[in-house]
Amino acid sequence: MIIVKPDAVQRGLTGEIIKRFEARGLKIIGLKLLQVERALAEKHYDVHRERPFFASLVAYITSAPVVVMALEGTDAIAAARATIGATTPSEAAPGSIRGDFGLEIGRNLAHGSDSVENGEIEVANFFSDAELLSGWPRAVDGWVFE
Ligand code: RTP
Ligand code: MG
Repeated sequence: MIIVKPDAVQRGLTGEIIKRFEARGLKIIGLKLLQVERALAEKHYDVHRERPFFASLVAYITSAPVVVMALEGTDAIAAARATIGATTPSEAAPGSIRGDFGLEIGRNLAHGSDSVENGEIEVANFFSDAELLSGWPRAVDGWVFE
C-alpha cells in the first residue's frame, strides 16, 4: 500500500512517483485520489499514537488530497520501500523518491507499508473490495515475473 502524501500531490509529483513503481514492474491493483479524514489518519498511524510527532503527522496526512495505490509483485514490500527511500529524506539515497525530491522527515512524500500483513490491513482501510483488481492479467507480466 502506497500513499502519495499531500506534499507530493501539491508539488505536482504524483505522476513522477506512480511512474517509478510502475516502471519497476509492480502491478497496480488499486488507485484513487482522496482527502484522508482524521479518523482514517489516526487508524492508519495508530502505531505512532504515543509518539511526540503523532499530532503533526495526522495534520500532515489530512492537510490536502493524497493518492493511494495498492501494488502487487515479487517482494513488493521491500522493493517499494527501497524505491521510496529512507524515512528522513536528507539521508535517503539519490535515486529514491525521498532522496530525489525531499529534505525533511515531516515532508517525506510517500508512504509504503512495512510488511505484507500491515499492507493488507492498510489496503482494506483505504479500498473497498470493488475498487481492487487483484491478479488482473497484465500484458507484460511474463516479461516482469519469471
Ligand atoms: P511511512 O510509514 O510513511 O512509509 O514512513 P516510514 O515507514 O519510513 O517511517 P515510520 O517510522 O513508519 O514513520 C511514519 C511517518 O511518520 C513521520 N515521522 N516523523 N518527526 C519525526 O521524528 C517523525 N518520525 C516519523 C514521517 O512522515 C514518517 O514517514
Ligand atoms: Mg512506516
